[in-house]
Amino acid sequence: MTASHLATADRSPVLSAAPESPTAVPTAVPAVGAAPRPASRRERPRVAVIGGGRNCEHEVSLATAASIRRALDADRWEVLGLTIGRDGVWHRVTDAGADAPLGEGPADSLAAALTLLADCDLAFPAVHGPLGEDGTLAGLLELAGLPYVGAGVRGGALAMDKWATKLVAVACGLSVAPGRVVTAEEIDRLVWDGPVVVKPVAAGSSHGVTLVRAADRLRPALDAALALDDRVLVEEVVQGREVDIAVLRRADGTLLTGPALEIGVPAGRLFDTGLKYEGAPDFRVPAELPPAALASMERAARQLFAALGCDGVARFDFFVTAEGRLVLNEVNTTPGMTEHSQVPLMFAAVGLPYPRLLDDLLAGADRA
Ligand SMILES: Nc1ncnc2c1ncn2[C@@H]1O[C@H](COP(=O)(O)OP(=O)(O)O)[C@@H](O)[C@H]1O
Ligand SMILES: [Mg+2]
Repeated sequence: MTASHLATADRSPVLSAAPESPTAVPTAVPAVGAAPRPASRRERPRVAVIGGGRNCEHEVSLATAASIRRALDADRWEVLGLTIGRDGVWHRVTDAGADAPLGEGPADSLAAALTLLADCDLAFPAVHGPLGEDGTLAGLLELAGLPYVGAGVRGGALAMDKWATKLVAVACGLSVAPGRVVTAEEIDRLVWDGPVVVKPVAAGSSHGVTLVRAADRLRPALDAALALDDRVLVEEVVQGREVDIAVLRRADGTLLTGPALEIGVPAGRLFDTGLKYEGAPDFRVPAELPPAALASMERAARQLFAALGCDGVARFDFFVTAEGRLVLNEVNTTPGMTEHSQVPLMFAAVGLPYPRLLDDLLAGADRA
């Protein structure tokens, strides 16, 4: 198939900024002030942790939310668990850990959930994927006037769309895998011309992502991706190590870049759903990278954090080629946040343990 390549944008001379000096990864993360507690009318601010969601990452979002609920320091936070079912019905997580539906359908249960949210001080959205991470939950919380962790509507929507993310990345002067977007109307006209990766524009957890090596596997791969989104990305296969980095906006407004994390992926395979969730993934922190490559990755991640409009914590996933070239793969504005997920592992490795990372995110949300 002929991919119309994304060219690297011409660097415009509009305004030049002095190059940012790369931040060294700290060996220990100092507390922000005296571990600020959000201003609240309550002694312990009430936090709504929202998990689940109406997409293929439902289970992963349940795991992230359950982990956050467990890890939040009960001396500091009062936790309310809310879950969005696969059918869109909102549930309240009871003290016994069960889910009690708040209504019969999405709208009436949402109305009941909003009543509960109105009595919260903050929200911690933990819904990966469409109808969550894509700005929809942020929009709901914005309209409700509730401070929340993470990106706003624009950042979530842009980063959830892998095509839009690539356009922004190229405009920032970064490299991405050459590729094109196709829709169902076009797929009969596509002409095979070599291996490609096929994936939904907006999904996650590697659902619908296929490495296609033979012409007769293209159509099934396109169908699998089109089952999850009406737009599909067809990309050149990038040969390189998979290395992620995260940027955290702390409560004092400063940005902290965690250490890079490499994902060990067997040759010839993608970091697929099996490698992600069946058994422990092979995460290596810190990734062994030449200092120059690490500095470029930090700069790129911070640049994208700002350009996309991220907040809270966002994870930037790169390939590093044998020549040391960085290729941005994707950006996650609601990254996996169980204790064993990449972002908590990264920050724990530099002295910011998981419960303190969560405190930091909540304190940052309250500042926003
Ligand atoms: N263009 C590509 N070249 C090589 N591998 C890719 C490419 N795009 C995706 N992959 C592989 O597929 C995995 C999942 O794709 P990704 O775009 O990250 O989707 P998801 O949002 O589901 O994680 C990546 O971690 C990587 O292993
Ligand atoms: Mg990914």
